[in-house]
Amino acid sequence: MAVKTVQDLINEGVEGRHVLVRSDLNVPLSDGNITDAGRIDASIPTLRSLLDAGARVIVAAHLGRPKGEPNPEFSLAPVAEALSERLDMYVPLASDVTGEDAHERANGLDDGDILLLENVRFDPRETSKLEDERAEFADALAALTADNGAFVSDGFGVVHREQASVYDIAKKLPHYAGGLVETELEVLKKVTEDPAHPYAVVLGGSKVSDKLGVIEALAPKVDNLIIGGGMCFTFLAAQGYEVGGSLLQEDMIDTCKDLLERFGDSIVLPDDVVVAERFDKDAESRTVELDSIPAGWMGLDIGEKSVEKFSQILDEAKTVFWNGPMGVFEFEKFAGGTRGVAESIIKATSNGAFSVVGGGDSAAAVRTLGLDEEGFSHISTGGGASLEFLEGKELPGVAVLES
Ligand code: 3PG
Repeated sequence: MAVKTVQDLINEGVEGRHVLVRSDLNVPLSDGNITDAGRIDASIPTLRSLLDAGARVIVAAHLGRPKGEPNPEFSLAPVAEALSERLDMYVPLASDVTGEDAHERANGLDDGDILLLENVRFDPRETSKLEDERAEFADALAALTADNGAFVSDGFGVVHREQASVYDIAKKLPHYAGGLVETELEVLKKVTEDPAHPYAVVLGGSKVSDKLGVIEALAPKVDNLIIGGGMCFTFLAAQGYEVGGSLLQEDMIDTCKDLLERFGDSIVLPDDVVVAERFDKDAESRTVELDSIPAGWMGLDIGEKSVEKFSQILDEAKTVFWNGPMGVFEFEKFAGGTRGVAESIIKATSNGAFSVVGGGDSAAAVRTLGLDEEGFSHISTGGGASLEFLEGKELPGVAVLES
């Protein structure tokens, strides 16, 4: 069955109706301040279109991983403020999720009004492994929409989670895919079904284990699988290099050997790395060849030669998918690799390549390093969700919309 979209809902008519929207507003915070509002920005178009059409919008979202109970550290208060600024209207935050305050405020909504519920993960039933408990919480969420309510799934970053406000709720209310979910799926399909070649995938980040599924799924389909970031050291160890105090997943060395044996023709590793005496933004550092990593020193970035080698591949690419920074980009000294690779992808895009930044840290890196977001074809809001899609896994929050 084809999935209905938020535009279908608007066409049906939403005036006077309560519409529960699940957004992914899980943004990084530092001292209570949002450090990267990408996900909030991406949630605006769907909310705006519903508000303009006269819906009474109730937004459900999570922040971080509180332990199933209210915790001010994980309050959505800073998010309510950011939404207010972007929507240019006051966005009140209910003090609970499905309690008295949420009900009172939901009942008081007029057409074109909006309400943000407190962090859905303050209720243990949201993430419960027990279907009954999640169903009960989904009922409580649905009850906020009174008669004739609807559910719009727009939190792409969370559609890989079988959680009450993402999955079970769609069984309780007429359901629709939000504009963000539609766009993300379209783009990710473009890089999985019949991508233009040469196709280069750039993977970074700290752990090989997190990327194993995506390596297995993509390696046979791509021309080049470029690997940098902390995870490259386990591959380098598999090739016999001494990696000093660099990040290393010893239990994955054999797996990396196997991957190199099977996909050695497409896997591309760095030729040099930037090593530091300790993990610190001001640590003494130098660029070394792979066979000269000093004992005890740790690799915190790829070197210039590696950037050059990766760039030559990216220059030719017609499709690029990038997930995971090349180094500790948060420290200026170790941001060169990530910046260099990002700039090469931007150049490839301006020459006609289709490029996707796969959410999470790499999306944050683009914004933190002040790179031009428009320089990429698409920056996904999904970290785990986009990787799971590329792995070919079913995303529960999408599958349920088809029912
Ligand atoms: C994310 O940050 O990838 C999403 O918001 C999902 O969050 P989670 O990994 O805590 O479920």
